[in-house]
Amino acid sequence: MKAPTVPNTSFVDKEFGGVDQLLEYCKALPKIELHAHLNGSISPESLRQLAEKRLAGTVGEAEAATGALSVLEALEWKDTFDLKDFFPMFKHIYALTNNMAWLVFIVHGVIKDFEDDGVRYLELRSTPRDDASTGLTKELYVQTVLQAISTSPATKISTRLILTIDRRHSPEVAMQIVDLAIRFRDQGVVGVDLAGDPYAADFDCKHALLKAKAAGLKVTIHLGEIENREAESASMLEVRPDRLGHATFLSEQLRAHVYEERIAVEMCMTSNVLCRTVSSYEEHHIKEALELDHPSILCTDDKSIFASPLSCEYALAASTFSMTKQQLFDLSKKSIDAIFANSEEKTRLRGVWDTWAP
Ligand code: IMP
Ligand code: ZN
Repeated sequence: MKAPTVPNTSFVDKEFGGVDQLLEYCKALPKIELHAHLNGSISPESLRQLAEKRLAGTVGEAEAATGALSVLEALEWKDTFDLKDFFPMFKHIYALTNNMAWLVFIVHGVIKDFEDDGVRYLELRSTPRDDASTGLTKELYVQTVLQAISTSPATKISTRLILTIDRRHSPEVAMQIVDLAIRFRDQGVVGVDLAGDPYAADFDCKHALLKAKAAGLKVTIHLGEIENREAESASMLEVRPDRLGHATFLSEQLRAHVYEERIAVEMCMTSNVLCRTVSSYEEHHIKEALELDHPSILCTDDKSIFASPLSCEYALAASTFSMTKQQLFDLSKKSIDAIFANSEEKTRLRGVWDTWAP
């Protein structure tokens, strides 16, 4: 897997002294990660370890592991994705994360990776799922991920959980997920998300999202990830989401609404460029949002699949839009305003930023 190349511009040389120094600065900078899908954030090393354990197991498990290894091999060569091939890949990863003990192992690993990359507050998101072969239920899934978060040995990062509703779910499952989010809100669940294959048929999850809002949970929605989804986007905005994922393709009217309402947008530059929903870093919609000082949070989406840690997203933004050290610091600090945790946590985090010295 190759990480995106950060171009060495004259600006990077002048402000940072070169790309290596820029990457170093971005890694040391305290950061907030608000858009990270758990099963897309597992390091290739962890996946390989799990696949190898599975290969030593029973025939069915060995088949699942072969699938996962072929995904890893395919990723070695990928520097673009087609969204249509992207989502089926997860079924191979899921075959390795369907067992409680291994789920704890991957959550610990993912939190550690983010911590090592300088992330100080993380909202992981994940889709509760059942797996009859291992006795996994949606409820056990949530309990296990929360238990793993609370037992993580990482000490410099705090982590919360967002439960994802998948676009392939039904209204009943969406409601079940919201009920789980409400039930586990005191144990670290801060919100719900709508994600999954944007080409999947639409279903009514509005009631579920409104129930989440009414219960005081926060809501984030993958919005306008592909073209021609104006009706869905307009309908989803009626839920009054607290944040949006991507918001790439929006009509002028809807974009104006997002700006007027100051709805924070989780921006995933590498994910969008590699999935070809945005044609280049220079043309990414974060450019306009930054110019308008619209609340924007740099995020990774699926850091392992796209081979880009959050520090690299900051470095790409700096080199693409000529952002100074101070501007990067301000962008990361302002991200605190958009977190789903309470005001005490925001105050605590601002203290961490204020005492940071590069
Ligand atoms: P999980 O929710 O922890 O299982 O993480 C993987 C899931 O996140 C995938 O099956 C997708 O439903 C969702 N996901 C990952 N990346 C994207 C994306 O770029 N757009 C929409 N959904 C995504
Ligand atoms: Zn996403």
